[in-house]
Amino acid sequence: MLKVQDVTKTYSGNGREVQAIDGLSLAIEAREAVAIQGPSGCGKSTLLLACGALLRPTGGTVHVAGVDPYQLSANARSAFRAEHIGFVFQQFHLVPYLDVLQNILAANLPNPQPQPEQRAEELIHQFGLEDRRRHVPAELSVGERQRVALSRALFHRPQLVLADEPTGNLDPDNASIVLDALREYADAGAAVLMVTHDPQAAQRAHRVLHMERGRVV
Ligand SMILES: Nc1ncnc2c1ncn2[C@@H]1O[C@H](COP(=O)(O)OP(=O)(O)O)[C@@H](O)[C@H]1O
Ligand SMILES: [Mg+2]
Repeated sequence: MLKVQDVTKTYSGNGREVQAIDGLSLAIEAREAVAIQGPSGCGKSTLLLACGALLRPTGGTVHVAGVDPYQLSANARSAFRAEHIGFVFQQFHLVPYLDVLQNILAANLPNPQPQPEQRAEELIHQFGLEDRRRHVPAELSVGERQRVALSRALFHRPQLVLADEPTGNLDPDNASIVLDALREYADAGAAVLMVTHDPQAAQRAHRVLHMERGRVV
């Protein structure tokens, strides 16, 4: 589902170059949840962006479900991302002036489905947000916010889910809800790659990879 081959990423700017990813390869199958751990600055977020068709590698290739998104035009790449890849972040990135239902339905905009409300309601039910439908993010607990973000990420039933420290702002109970959902989603057929410092997350993953200085060690 995800194949990363010999990827490098060098950031350049301010006359300074940083090699964030240094010849990294990995493969994740369908039905597999993989956790990545490693010190701050070792390139974890950069790797997720490169896997998510959001950041073109300097070298090497990324394939998602057999497609190299960086070979697509910018528009086709956006469409591919909207259909096949779900993102979850430590900071939930919800739209502050939209309510829960509208935030979930925002996933429908770039890639309209025939019955978006029905899918949104399914997720609202799955994540226990029934009483929060009409609340805006500021009125939600952090756990609820992350469940909304997860609902938005899973809206299109993506084949690949990328999560960058998804439990970094959560208490252990809410972290469990999010991690169980990600694990179940992998068990149902997707590939899940999550960056995490959370020992609970590593326990729920099928595999744990350790990164140092832009490489898997
Ligand atoms: N946009 C950027 N421009 C320049 N350097 C960056 C940028 N993003 C990240 N870096 C650098 O790349 C390295 C890897 O960063 P990152 O992928 O965020 O690591 P991690 O998520 O493991 O903490 C760090 O040295 C960081 O400072
Ligand atoms: Mg990071």
